[in-house]
Amino acid sequence: MNVSEAIRTRRSVKSFDPAFTLTAAERDELLNLALQSPTAFNLQHWRFVVVDDPAHRQAIRQVAWDQSQVTDASLLIILCADMASWEKNAARVWKNAPDAVRDMMVPAIDAYYRGKPLVQRDEAMRSCGIVGQTLMLAAREKGLDSCPMDGFDFEAVGKLINLPDDHVIAFMLAIGKKTQDVWPKPGQLELNEVMISNRFNH
Ligand SMILES: Cc1cc2nc3c(=O)[nH]c(=O)nc-3n(C[C@H](O)[C@H](O)[C@H](O)COP(=O)(O)O)c2cc1C
Repeated sequence: MNVSEAIRTRRSVKSFDPAFTLTAAERDELLNLALQSPTAFNLQHWRFVVVDDPAHRQAIRQVAWDQSQVTDASLLIILCADMASWEKNAARVWKNAPDAVRDMMVPAIDAYYRGKPLVQRDEAMRSCGIVGQTLMLAAREKGLDSCPMDGFDFEAVGKLINLPDDHVIAFMLAIGKKTQDVWPKPGQLELNEVMISNRFNH
């Protein structure tokens, strides 16, 4: 399957086959592909909470509108990000760059994020959105289905996964084999409505 086909055939699946499993190697292949996604300043601040304990999944489902994807998908990933990664990891993620590049990047990262909690949070959401799409398309290429999900109580899920104070949950991603087709695309907007030439006209 090429990328265009993966994009066209990806749907947010509502029911997964609970008997379908992925090996640890198949899971890691998907996650390793995801690691190739871009992040601003190469921060890679995403953190993937992979929930494979059935009881833990059940507890999460209870605070996720009882959505069956949470328990039935082969993989349930809670896409989180470390909002303080800019402070902890800046030098580490530029360690292989030429000295001059690293010496420019590390202070630039500090200046960009320090004292700007909204920027730190926005960046976390951007990165998780991008990595989530990479995962969904990689899954599709392997004949798998997925569902991105934010229909859950973020605070309750945060407690269940012991989310550190300086981390944030962006959304969950269920990946597996669908048991049913989803309804046809419910109503895509036309390109001419969403594409703006140069500037908005008010
Ligand atoms: C951030 C995000 C959160 C979503 N949350 C849920 C969810 O909790 N449950 C669900 O069934 N679908 C969820 N969806 C799927 C959307 O409803 C779906 O993407 C949209 O209706 C378009 O359908 P398609 O993805 O099949 O093309 C979510 C999608 C996104 C991007």
